[in-house]
Amino acid sequence: GNPSGDISRKSDTWGSRFGFIMAAVGSSVGLGNFWRFPYTAGENGGGAFILIYLLCVVAIGLPVLMGEYALGRKAGMSSVEGIQSLARNAGKSENWGIIGWVGVFASTFIVSFYMVISAWILAFVLQAIGGNFAGITPEQSGQNFGETISNRGNIMGLLLVFLIANAVIVGRGVKGGIEKAATILMPAFFIMLLGVVAFAVTTGDLKQTVSFLLSPDWSAVNFSTFLAALGQACFSLSVGSVLMVTYGSYLSRDTNIPRSSFIVAGADTMVAIIAGFAIFPIVFQAGLDPAGGPGLFFVSLPVAFGSIPGGNIIAMVFFSLALFAAFTSSISLYEVSVSWLEERHGVHRMGASMGMAFILFVVGVAYIYSGDYLDFVDFLTGNILLPLGALFIAIFIGWVLPKLDMLEEIEDQKLHAVWYTALRWFVPVFVGIILFFGIFDGLQ
Ligand code: PHE
Repeated sequence: GNPSGDISRKSDTWGSRFGFIMAAVGSSVGLGNFWRFPYTAGENGGGAFILIYLLCVVAIGLPVLMGEYALGRKAGMSSVEGIQSLARNAGKSENWGIIGWVGVFASTFIVSFYMVISAWILAFVLQAIGGNFAGITPEQSGQNFGETISNRGNIMGLLLVFLIANAVIVGRGVKGGIEKAATILMPAFFIMLLGVVAFAVTTGDLKQTVSFLLSPDWSAVNFSTFLAALGQACFSLSVGSVLMVTYGSYLSRDTNIPRSSFIVAGADTMVAIIAGFAIFPIVFQAGLDPAGGPGLFFVSLPVAFGSIPGGNIIAMVFFSLALFAAFTSSISLYEVSVSWLEERHGVHRMGASMGMAFILFVVGVAYIYSGDYLDFVDFLTGNILLPLGALFIAIFIGWVLPKLDMLEEIEDQKLHAVWYTALRWFVPVFVGIILFFGIFDGLQ
C-alpha cells in the first residue's frame, strides 16, 4: 500500500503528440469496430441504430472522452488514484475514487473476454494463411466457426501467445512499449483497411448495404436499441473505463485535449462505418442474416474471401488488420491494471504485466470451457458498466469538482462552457434514462 497517499507524478510519458494520438486511436479502434459494431447494428435493425449510435458518440462519448483526458492530465495519476487526488484537492471525499473502480472493474472484465475473441482472430489469420477458405459455402463457414472456437487446445495456445505479446509490450512501458507498437501498427492498419474496403464495395452487394445501413426503420426502436447504441458508443470509444484517464495522465501540456478527442472519436467512428461497409455487402451477397450475432464477422468474411481468386491473401490481410486493431486496444485495457499495480503497489511493470497475463489466461480458459458467459460479459460490461462509468465521470466533473477546475485542460472558455453543461445536465439525464429504461426493457 501507500499509506502516506503521496504518489509521485509519472516518470514515463508519451514521446510525441503523434505517438499519443496513435495510441489513443489504437485503443479506440478495435474489436468494437469490426466485430461488435456490425453484429450489434445488425441485431438492432441497421439504419436507426446507427443514427442513435452517432448521436451517442457526439453528445455523450465525446464530452466524456474529453473529461477523462482532462481528469488524467490534471491529476497526473492514473484512474483510481487520479480521481481520489482530484477529489481531495477539491475538499471532497476520497470515496469518489469509487468511480475509478467501476472503470477498473469494467476494463478488467472486458480485457478477459477481449483476449479470447482476439485468439479466435489469430486462429482465422492462420486459417487464411493455410488457404482454408477457398470455395467455402455459408453453411461450411458457419460450421468452421463453430469447430474453430470449440477446438479448445488450439484456442488456449493462441490465447497464451496473444497474452504474452500483450504483456511484453505493456511491460516495456508507455513510450517504449504501447506508443511504439501503436505508431507502427496503426498506420499499417489504415493502409490495409483501404484495400479491403475497395474490395468489399466492388464485389459485394452494395445496394442492399446502403439501404440497410442508411434507411432507418424507426418502428423497431425501443429503449433496448438506445441502450445498445449507448453501450456500443462507450465500448468503441473506450469511454467509461477510466482508461482514458490513465492515458491522459501521460499527456504533456502542449497537447490540445479537445482537438485530440475529436480526432480519436472521428477516427473511431469512421472505422466503424467503414467496417460496416466492408462487412455488410458480403453478408448480403452470401445471403446471411445480418442479425446473426457475434459470429457474423467470423462466418461472413471467409465466404466472401473464399469466393474469389486470390481471396486468401485478402482474408489474411483482413484478419491481420483486425488482429492489429485488437492488439492496440487490448494493450490499453491491460495498462489500466498494470498502471494501478505499479503506482499503487509499487509492483515492477514487467512483473505486473506477466502476472496479469497469468490471471487472464486462467479466466480465458474458463470462458473457453463455458462459451456462453462470453456474450453475457460482453453485454454486462459494454452496455451496463461502461455507460455507468461514463455517467459517474460526468457527475464527478459536473457536480463534484468546482466548475472551473478543468478550464485549463479544455483551454477554450466557450468550449468549456458547452462541455461543462453537457456533462452537468445532458449526459447524466440521458444516460440515466437510457440505463434505467434500457435495463427495464431488457428484463421484460
Ligand atoms: N474500444 C475498444 C474497441 O473498440 C475496446 C475498449 C473498451 C478498449 C474499453 C478499452 C476500454 O475494441
